[in-house]
Amino acid sequence: MTAPLPLPGDNRVGCVIDDLVGKGWSWQPGLLPDALLAALREEIHLLDAEAALAPAGIGRDDSFQVDRSVRKTRITWLDGASAAQAAFMTWAEQWRETLNRALMLGLFEFEACYAVYPEGGFYDRHLDSFEGARNRILSMVLYLNKAWHADLGGALVIWPEGAGDADPSAARIVPEGGGVVFMLSETIPHAVEPTAQLRYGIAGWWRVNQAADGLAIPIA
Ligand code: OGA
Ligand code: MN
Repeated sequence: MTAPLPLPGDNRVGCVIDDLVGKGWSWQPGLLPDALLAALREEIHLLDAEAALAPAGIGRDDSFQVDRSVRKTRITWLDGASAAQAAFMTWAEQWRETLNRALMLGLFEFEACYAVYPEGGFYDRHLDSFEGARNRILSMVLYLNKAWHADLGGALVIWPEGAGDADPSAARIVPEGGGVVFMLSETIPHAVEPTAQLRYGIAGWWRVNQAADGLAIPIA
């Protein structure tokens, strides 16, 4: 798992870029390389079996709360320590460089967590960027399920930028293994419908550099 993982052909990269410019989100089935998908799936199964995943909260620091009426998921943050995670971080870094070059988003650092939705798990409509600090800019969600079909629920519903609660959605995405979603974190509302089966994935976010007094924060 240490070999570099190239991005897919330019056509896929071009699609993601066009989608982000045109509508603020992009769904790419089968984007994750097979070997990486297999390694990440194996690891999330192991972690879940060891019950290493904790109930997910909402908000940050002081406002952090576990509210099961809004979100029912178990998560664990990625630290890049395992071979699978290191390969994933390399792959994500290639996306960061590519998207920065094309879109000048200033994406600086990346954080990601494994997310397991238990049977009946869901996530109500939300934006990924917390109010206040301009932090998360681009979200990436990828699915690690083996065989998934629409009857199992767990669809990701995406609304267009600016859509109200009652407005029609833009897409209902069936979370097929290897598929990847990109979304602008501050503007694209989305939700996860209740799932009928364990639903495995990774959610990741790129942030801009939160400079203070004109000084960039160096990468540790
Ligand atoms: C999230 C999220 C969507 C999904 O973790 O913030 O919206 O399809 N996940 O898992
Ligand atoms: Mn989200």
